Amino acid sequence: MADSPLPFHEDPAPGSGRRPARAEFVSDAPRLSLNGRWRFRLSGTADGTGPSLPGPDLDDSGWDTIRVPAHWVLEGHDRPIYTNTAYPFPIDPPYLPDENPTGDYRLRFDLPPGWPAGRSVLRFQGVDSCGTVWLNGELLGHSKGSRLPFEFDVTGLVRPRDNQLAVRVQRWSSGSYLEDQDMWWLPGIFRDVELLSRPEGGIDDFTVRASYRDGAGTLLVTADAPGHVEVPELGVAAATGERVTIPRVEPWSAENPRLYRGTLTAAGETIELAIGFRTVEIVGGRLLVNGAPVLFRGVNRHEHDPDRGRSLDRATMIRDIELMKRHNVNAVRTAHYPPHPEFLRLCDEYGLWVVDECDIETHGFIYAGWDGNPPAEPMWREALLDRARRMVERDKNHPSVVVWSLGNESGAGSAFGDIEDYIRHRDPTRPLHYERDPSYRHSDLHSLMYPSLDDLERIGRRAEEPPEGIEPDSPDDVRRRGLPFLLCEYAHAMGNGPGSLADYQAILESYERFCGAFVWEWIDHGLAGRDALGRRYYRHGGDIDHQPNGERFCLDGLLFPDRTPSPGLAELRKAIEPVRIAVEGGEVVVLNKYDFLSLAHLGFRWCVERDGVRIASGVLTVPDCPARSATRLPLPQAATDASGGGSDGETWLTVEAVLAEVTGWAPAGHVIACGQTRLDQPAPPPPTPVIEPGATPAIGPEGGGEELRLGPAVFDGRTGRLIRIGELELDGPVFDVWRAPTENDRGQGPRNALAADWEAVGLDRFLHRCTAVERPDDGTIVVRGRSGPATRTLGFRTTFTYRLRGGGLHLLIEADPVGDWHDTAYGHLDVNPPRMGARFALPGGYSEVTWFGRGPGESYADSRAAARVGRHARSIDALQTPYVVPQENGNHVETRWLELSGAGLPTLRVDGEPLLDFTARRWTSEALQAARRPHDLTDSGRVWLNLDHGQQGIGSASCGPALPERYRLAVRRYTWSLTLTLH
Ligand code: GAL
Repeated sequence: MADSPLPFHEDPAPGSGRRPARAEFVSDAPRLSLNGRWRFRLSGTADGTGPSLPGPDLDDSGWDTIRVPAHWVLEGHDRPIYTNTAYPFPIDPPYLPDENPTGDYRLRFDLPPGWPAGRSVLRFQGVDSCGTVWLNGELLGHSKGSRLPFEFDVTGLVRPRDNQLAVRVQRWSSGSYLEDQDMWWLPGIFRDVELLSRPEGGIDDFTVRASYRDGAGTLLVTADAPGHVEVPELGVAAATGERVTIPRVEPWSAENPRLYRGTLTAAGETIELAIGFRTVEIVGGRLLVNGAPVLFRGVNRHEHDPDRGRSLDRATMIRDIELMKRHNVNAVRTAHYPPHPEFLRLCDEYGLWVVDECDIETHGFIYAGWDGNPPAEPMWREALLDRARRMVERDKNHPSVVVWSLGNESGAGSAFGDIEDYIRHRDPTRPLHYERDPSYRHSDLHSLMYPSLDDLERIGRRAEEPPEGIEPDSPDDVRRRGLPFLLCEYAHAMGNGPGSLADYQAILESYERFCGAFVWEWIDHGLAGRDALGRRYYRHGGDIDHQPNGERFCLDGLLFPDRTPSPGLAELRKAIEPVRIAVEGGEVVVLNKYDFLSLAHLGFRWCVERDGVRIASGVLTVPDCPARSATRLPLPQAATDASGGGSDGETWLTVEAVLAEVTGWAPAGHVIACGQTRLDQPAPPPPTPVIEPGATPAIGPEGGGEELRLGPAVFDGRTGRLIRIGELELDGPVFDVWRAPTENDRGQGPRNALAADWEAVGLDRFLHRCTAVERPDDGTIVVRGRSGPATRTLGFRTTFTYRLRGGGLHLLIEADPVGDWHDTAYGHLDVNPPRMGARFALPGGYSEVTWFGRGPGESYADSRAAARVGRHARSIDALQTPYVVPQENGNHVETRWLELSGAGLPTLRVDGEPLLDFTARRWTSEALQAARRPHDLTDSGRVWLNLDHGQQGIGSASCGPALPERYRLAVRRYTWSLTLTLH
């Protein structure tokens, strides 16, 4: 067998019979979409239905029909498979298992009347994983490279009527070895299929070079046939090959995507041009566009839709772009393959910087110790080069594309040198990016994924350690230090999080070396499913019966699968806002962080709120101020006046920068940035009551368990728990150190797996013992206890001291660690509690919460920039964030007070002294942890209210560094207090 020629699907060759790669463009030449319903049959092996597939005589009337474009695994055939790094087949390149689901497709079509007699080209925009194509019984050829187009010349073969197109698509091919991206494996003809009429003697391929310097633009359009370029707005009328300098043009940038529409006319065809003048260069170790440094505030975007997989329609692409622009995102890395070409047209138009990434990833070779890694093996050279060629040729005319990325996580190898040579030769106008070769020889940018804040800071100073295998001060080391740095992935947005976005941004904005960063990632790759009751939910890898699988790791986006923005996206928007508004020394300081825009497109408005109630507002006239500079103006007099006048409420000034006019992506008034400052002097916190320990005899729990009363409050004499205040029945507080682990608490495998450590020592199963209920003669009730898990000595000793104060019941909580927290049984686990809190069970009739503090969205210690200080109101149901996999959510830091209300119940007010974290939900943390899907969570009949000293931060350790120490709760003494009042 070894010597016989390989079948196409296993042959490393990228294709045969295809036309040369060329630019993607829109023209007035006739075009016939072949999208629609095709005949389809799925077989178990690469032979498909056998040799009769292309023949006109095959009776396919009994076959299924399928939508094209689509993935067959999302159209009722076979199943999608999700792996992160693992190949779903043996590492035995270039071979594939015999079990190789293969889709045979057939379409009969006629040409529309008037279809020109000249050349015709059949184009596939994307076929996963490979395609063999026949027209009217003739083999046209083969192609691999799932996210790249291929074309066949069908001139003379295609006929007016009754054409029979046949395509065989193997799920696994040699190409799959180059497509091991962390995503669902989704086979099929998933992008458009079209027939193009190509005018005789016309242009097939052309290159637009539109550069910008010092106000002037230079335009050069070259083509493979003579043509004529017109840009009416600029008065340009030139032949192809003729360089034209226009003394005054507006440059293109993501911030101001100025396109000049024009035409390229050649024999029989007029091609649309969307020209953006811009020059990308690296000068002095910085990335400059149009002579100015730029900072990408980016996201990594996979193409994903919960029903259609990577088969996206235009409306969905626009939705993505609108959501990005509305959240201050200005850049996209097309992780990890070139997107549908329409997406790039839209990026040109709406304005997004694009790092266009090649469809190359060989990550699974990690399990072979990188032995045989394709970029290092000559056998794969042509296949890899083919992918780079098809990306660059297709996308070269987009002003939005400013960086070419050679691929993702594919180790090192000489093929990257070949790719580099090819791109530099074809397109010297854009820098190259490749992150995984530690020499960075083929990259113009230094780049990493998921560094810690400290490491990023060192990189900013060009003081990083050389990567493994690179000698300090070697030529590679020296060269790399001189490169600009692009953070290609950070802030893993899996589940609740990511934390530290503002911390990362502060560093990114502090060093000239940085040209930006891309959050991992844009959208959760959940696939729609229905449970037995018909309820829609989102499936992850673990929901599919296939091994290996990457389980929940595909749910790591800033959008939920249905494109609902997560709290993480709100936080990102705030962290990367292009305008910073602060109050310093009695002045409003507005820092313009745009790279190009002045502030002229923004309006500014202010309001003053006392205890969350608006008492004054107005418009702020901010003098225009160029990019990357600041302006200062006096506080509005009316705001200063409003802040006086004495009151015990807090007085806050909020200033917002909003779009002055409607744009293509947001209405006028859309908030771009916001700053808040407190105007009054915070009053000193009330003195903490001092408790003299052991002042009086215990009266419980030995005391027989009778109820104790303190004003309207009634306590269980045995447990010390509060069971009633006036008419309100309740139960609590219970000392609570637990939260339903977030994905980031779970870490990545054994790395940073805090939740596993917490569970190992039992933080999830504290048992409580009331050691004393005391009634000293100072008017207090003191409940002492000890909480800790079975089998351990570790825990906390707690003291809850109650007294009547100002019409309410004041509670002071003290918690002191006891026992062995350096758990020797588990080899010195140093655990920290995820929460320091007190939990109350309240009647289920409570339905609404109003609070003064940060909100309205959820907030945590390291993720609270987006939550403003103010008065907020939400129903308890709306306080829950429905993460696809249930986990801790809905916390609110820095809460001054909250009020719970519900029909027929007294309003319960809680005042923190001074601040609390709170969560309120209809289920416990334990139920939240046990649930697999949001709809597993059912109303327990009670409202569970946590009134906490705090929770630890969120971080992004599901793929990334450990949570910084400063966001953890140390094992130490804690005290906090609050007052409960009924209205
Ligand atoms: C990166 C990789 C991404 C994704 C991410 C974790 O290493 O490039 O594709 O796997 O980690 O979600």
